[in-house]
Amino acid sequence: MRLVLLGPPGSGKGTQAARLKEKLQVPHISTGDLLRAEVAAGSPLGLQAKEVMARGDLVSDEILLGMLESRLGREDCAKGFILDGYPRNLAQADALDGLLAKIGQPLDAVVQLDVPTDLLVERLAGRAKAEGRADDNPESVRKRLQVYDDSTAPVIGFYEKRGVLAHVDGVGSLDEVLARILAALGH
Ligand code: AP5
Repeated sequence: MRLVLLGPPGSGKGTQAARLKEKLQVPHISTGDLLRAEVAAGSPLGLQAKEVMARGDLVSDEILLGMLESRLGREDCAKGFILDGYPRNLAQADALDGLLAKIGQPLDAVVQLDVPTDLLVERLAGRAKAEGRADDNPESVRKRLQVYDDSTAPVIGFYEKRGVLAHVDGVGSLDEVLARILAALGH
C-alpha cells in the first residue's frame, strides 16, 4: 500500500500514520519527523531548517525532495509506505509523481483528514503544553494554518482530479478515525 495522508496541522496525520503502519505493515514516513531529526542532530540541513520550521514556514522543495528520495530508496519501502507531511504544495505533488514514476511505485490512495480549525488550534495548544514542540506556539500555529490554506489545500484538488482521494472525518476517538481511514482504504 502506497498511501499519502493529507490534512492541516493537528488533524492527526502523525497519530493515525503510527497506527496504520501496524495494520498495513509498511513504514510511516513523516517529513516533519525527518526534519526534526536533522535539527536535533545539528546537521547542516538541520541548521538550515530550524528557523524556518520554528516560524511555521515550509522548508525548501529541493531539500525535501532530496530527503524523500533517499528515504523512499530504502529497502523497507519496497512493499509501500505511508507518507505524512508530503506533498505540501503543488510543486511537491508534481515532484512526488516524478519520483514514484522513476521507481515504478505509483500511489494507491490519498486520504484527507478533515477537522475544523477551532479543534486544530485546541489540539495543538494541548500538545504545546504536553510536549513543548517549537512550532506549537500560537504565532507559529497561525502561520502553519495559513501556509496550509495557501499552499497545501490546492493539493487536495490535484488528487481529487485523479480519483484517488478520500475525505475522512478526523473528529472522534483515535479508534473511530482509524476505522474510518481503513474503511476508506477498503480494509
Ligand atoms: P509536520 O511535522 O508535518 O507538522 P504539521 O503538518 O504541522 O503536522 P502536526 O504534527 O502538527 O499535525 P498532525 O496532522 O500530524 O497531527 P498529530 O497526529 O501530530 O511539519 C512540521 C514543519 O516541518 C512544517 O511546518 C515545515 O516547516 C516542515 N515540513 C514538514 N514537511 C514539509 C514539506 N513537505 N515541505 C516543506 N516543509 C516541510 O496530532 C496533533 C495533536 O492532536 C496531538 O497532540 C495528538 O495527540 C492530537 N490528536 C490527534 N488525533 C486526535 C483525535 N482524534 N482526538 C483528539 N486529539 C487528537
